Amino acid sequence: PPTCAGMRAVRSLLAFIFLFSMCTSCLYFIYVAPGIANTYFFMVQAQGIMLRDNVRTIGHMIRLYTNKNTTLNGTDYPDGSNSSEYIAQPTTYLPDNFTYAPNLPCPEKLPSMNGPIDVNMSEILMEDIELKFSKHMDIQFGGHWKPKDCKPRWKVAILIPFRNRHEHLPILFKHLLPLLQRQRLQFGFYVIEQTGTQPFNRAMLFNVGFKEALRDLDWDCVIFHDVDHIPENDRNYYGCGNMPRHFAAKLDKYMYILPYSEFFGGVSGLTVEQFRKINGFPNAFWGWGGEDDDLWNRVHYAGFNVSRPEGDIGKYKSIPHHHRGEVQFLGRYKLLRYSKERQHLDGLNNLNYSPEITLSSLYKNISVNLTPELAPISDY
Ligand SMILES: *[C@@H]1O[C@H](CO)[C@@H](O)[C@H](O)[C@H]1NC(C)=O
Ligand SMILES: *[C@@H]1O[C@H](CO)[C@@H](O)[C@H](O)[C@H]1NC(C)=O
Ligand SMILES: *[C@@H]1O[C@H](CO)[C@@H](O)[C@H](O)[C@H]1NC(C)=O
Ligand SMILES: *[C@@H]1O[C@H](CO)[C@@H](O)[C@H](O)[C@H]1NC(C)=O
Ligand SMILES: *[C@@H]1O[C@H](CO)[C@@H](O)[C@H](O)[C@H]1NC(C)=O
Ligand SMILES: *[C@@H]1O[C@H](CO)[C@@H](O)[C@H](O)[C@H]1NC(C)=O
Ligand SMILES: *[C@@H]1O[C@H](CO)[C@@H](O)[C@H](O)[C@H]1NC(C)=O
Repeated sequence: PPTCAGMRAVRSLLAFIFLFSMCTSCLYFIYVAPGIANTYFFMVQAQGIMLRDNVRTIGHMIRLYTNKNTTLNGTDYPDGSNSSEYIAQPTTYLPDNFTYAPNLPCPEKLPSMNGPIDVNMSEILMEDIELKFSKHMDIQFGGHWKPKDCKPRWKVAILIPFRNRHEHLPILFKHLLPLLQRQRLQFGFYVIEQTGTQPFNRAMLFNVGFKEALRDLDWDCVIFHDVDHIPENDRNYYGCGNMPRHFAAKLDKYMYILPYSEFFGGVSGLTVEQFRKINGFPNAFWGWGGEDDDLWNRVHYAGFNVSRPEGDIGKYKSIPHHHRGEVQFLGRYKLLRYSKERQHLDGLNNLNYSPEITLSSLYKNISVNLTPELAPISDY
């Protein structure tokens, strides 16, 4: 009977849909699982470190309470609380009454840099931030600014790779713009947005942003900044140096511990020469993960070391989010093995793209569709 066949068809369609959804969630899990495992192992490791530190202090306390008078005339022995990790801010910042001169370079340790800043992660409207900064803080349309009372030490282009994070952008601007002004750096913001359906390619977006920013102005320092990383200390100076710099040394999501000594993610900065010398970021990392490790390798193969801010200066808060539909790049371990061989084949020198550029009050919007064909490379 026809009704029966209809039922059967419906049932097999349902079964198909069921199996299909099982499959996609399995695939999704396979994509995501290594990340979860990594994060889990990291947390365990981090807790181990914290535990060890605490035990040291508890042990110290026990010693203090039990053999009080064995300490040397009450002066006490070092308890680790003075280790470089915890050392107070250097006191070499200039006094408040410091006077600027328009013909002299701005100092690096300005009195306006006070240390820890209040981070407020509440969502705000881009329009409110735009209004506030373009009206009252003198930011030029397109996101440019430079100090008037001294000569900026660095001309800094801030590159922000972007996709689907519209609520993060105003939060970042709200914290970063005043910080850069207090540091008296000349700066410009570039938001490089990936369109199309390919997995997110953070590294290639940075390469595009680098090329586009240099069409605007002869920047001498480029900062590669994730949109969800908010600095917690305004003494984290966003200038460059004779070594590539890793700014985001302590992330709250990693319990303020450097996850591994080669970690180079979140926020990093290189001079234009340094970035050219290492041939930029690799273009071959599709999906999240690995491209920052490859950059670390490139930097070292080119004979540089990485510098980091001291102590708590390098603290960052990350805006909580899920990797919505963003896949992990599973091929990264294979690519990382050939970092050295690929360095001169894949990067600034094999990159093609056609951007769509619009100006916004606080940034230049570089919208670009990326595909692997735009950065051809023989098999590595
Ligand atoms: C420890 O030494 C102080 C003097 O340095 C003394 O007053 C105190 O009684 C001593 N305590 C013990 C438990 O011996
Ligand atoms: C402890 O104090 C005594 C007397 O004040 C002094 O002679 C001794 O050198 C001191 N010991 C140390 C290690 O400072
Ligand atoms: C800790 O460091 C400060 C400044 O470097 C120094 O003045 C102080 O004596 C040190 N304290 C200990 C217990 O080593
Ligand atoms: C600036 O302040 C410091 C103390 O904070 C003082 O020693 C110095 O004389 C002052 N300089 C001027 C030019 O007022
Ligand atoms: C954080 O920002 C929101 C939105 O601008 C504001 O309403 C709130 O009062 C701020 N919170 C603090 C503690 O400043
Ligand atoms: C980088 O660091 C290593 C080890 O600390 C050192 O041997 C090397 O000289 C440094 N390189 C540069 C260029 O400073
Ligand atoms: C950038 O511009 C494109 C259009 O070219 C627009 O769709 C997109 O929303 C803009 N992105 C941002 C972050 O302003």
